[in-house]
Amino acid sequence: MKTEHQTDTPMVEIRNVHKRFGDLEVLKGIDLTVNRGKIVSIIGPSGSGKSTLLRSVNHLEVIDQGEILLDGVQVNRPDMNGLAFERHINHIRQNMGMVFQHFNLFPHLSTIDNVTLGPRKLKGMDKKIARELGMELLDRVGLAEKAEVFPNHLSGGQKQRVAIARALAMQPKVMLFDEATSALDPELVEEVNRVMRGLAEEHMTMLIVTHEMTFARDVSDWTMFMDGGVVVEECAPEKLFSNPDQERTCNFLRKHLGDNH
Ligand SMILES: Nc1ncnc2c1ncn2[C@@H]1O[C@H](COP(=O)(O)OP(=O)(O)OP(=O)(O)O)[C@@H](O)[C@H]1O
Ligand SMILES: [Mg+2]
Repeated sequence: MKTEHQTDTPMVEIRNVHKRFGDLEVLKGIDLTVNRGKIVSIIGPSGSGKSTLLRSVNHLEVIDQGEILLDGVQVNRPDMNGLAFERHINHIRQNMGMVFQHFNLFPHLSTIDNVTLGPRKLKGMDKKIARELGMELLDRVGLAEKAEVFPNHLSGGQKQRVAIARALAMQPKVMLFDEATSALDPELVEEVNRVMRGLAEEHMTMLIVTHEMTFARDVSDWTMFMDGGVVVEECAPEKLFSNPDQERTCNFLRKHLGDNH
């Protein structure tokens, strides 16, 4: 049954997106919609364009054609430039939390300061209120006791949980995850996955690029398999992982599901 958080209203719309790097066309007309409160995972071989697509959503890559919308507002605006575009994109980015493979925490800031920097600097949030919010988020990712610790004293899994708390501190409309667990030792993966599952239960809208097939299958409402810059197949994970339509999907899954399937 749908809750008020889960609707058929699009939160992220990717329409006919093309992106090239020089002669190499990396995205060849991608379409994908993530509805509010839904979790969509993107899987595919290395070099298929998954990160480029996710980075395009956040305008870390400038697309060559097509359009991307966040909650009905166009992200890419070829008609805008200069300061006007900078203001526009900063506003858009405040509504998207992005979590990368390599955490990208600020090494010179404590855990709590990493989490509160965005709300303070970008939203002008009062220091005390930002700290309360930051502590709440650190508690949510199980790291309240690490508030004053610097990133180099944290494990990879802890760093990634701080990175998630930092992204959440901006109270984003959508969270984008690019291989959030692939730089972690296997025993640290679950603590990050647990936090992501918690977000799913709270109906956070999420777009997740992952190599972890079991996680994608368990947590997603919808899965897209891409290869060579095109969407090969997209459907509910129950179908994609057990009975895909396309030969390319079968081959990929055969390689990546290994013995546990
Ligand atoms: N800044 C760039 N300049 C030139 N080529 C790039 C750039 N970024 C990515 N590419 C190329 O675009 C293609 C897609 O890269 P991308 O990082 O999106 O793949 P991916 O699906 O995320 O792969 P992986 O699973 O290894 O992370 C690759 O061939 C890559 O070499
Ligand atoms: Mg990638």
